[in-house]
Amino acid sequence: MNTSVAILVCLMSIAGLNATADDQIPLQKKLFVSIYYSARSTASIHFILTKLSPLFCSVQKYVFLELVPFGKAYSTNIGFYCMNGHIECRANTIHNCVFDQFPHNSTAHLEYLNCALQHVDNTIHVEEKCAGHVGLSIDEIHTCATTRKGYLLMLEAEIDTKDKTRGSRFVPSYVFDDVYNDRDQRLAQEDFEAILCQKLINHGFTNVCSTINNVLRYRDPHH
Ligand SMILES: *[C@@H]1O[C@H](CO)[C@@H](O)[C@H](O)[C@H]1NC(C)=O
Repeated sequence: MNTSVAILVCLMSIAGLNATADDQIPLQKKLFVSIYYSARSTASIHFILTKLSPLFCSVQKYVFLELVPFGKAYSTNIGFYCMNGHIECRANTIHNCVFDQFPHNSTAHLEYLNCALQHVDNTIHVEEKCAGHVGLSIDEIHTCATTRKGYLLMLEAEIDTKDKTRGSRFVPSYVFDDVYNDRDQRLAQEDFEAILCQKLINHGFTNVCSTINNVLRYRDPHH
């Protein structure tokens, strides 16, 4: 099951390969979407697996997606404190370690998450197994997560999260074009497709929305 999910992530984009003109959108013209989440937050898992992931293939050419695993944790002088316990900190550290191996490659990040968020439990087994699933050495990821490297990546994620989400009151927090505001947060919680679509239109990407709406209608006739 995990295998098919991971491969499905961007099956839709194959159909889009013909539209080569769109492939060259410069980075500074793209919509920046940052998701501040936690590997053990139910709302984050639900959002990534059921909302973000299905939409991603339709929008990936127009969006620069950043996924930041940290949540409402905070650093102490003996490590990190996580709301859902030590396992949550370990899981977020592993996510950071995996993402670090694929810089600026959100396709790879989502492929990993589609595996790692599928059967979360009170171990970090699935996090490590899924690292192997996206072609990484499980030992290397384990080493990263248990040494200074993982610690520093978590610190970076903490700074980024606190800086960009006004203290991380919401998990997940949604940030568009690097600017957090409560209105966007509320709209994204209520209807992520709608606000994403609105932001894309504001960026001049008017056609993408019809694709998104078609995808959603196709996937969820009750929506
Ligand atoms: C991103 O990751 C995917 C999946 O792991 C890989 O197929 C692709 O080549 C990577 N893209 C870049 C630009 O490195």
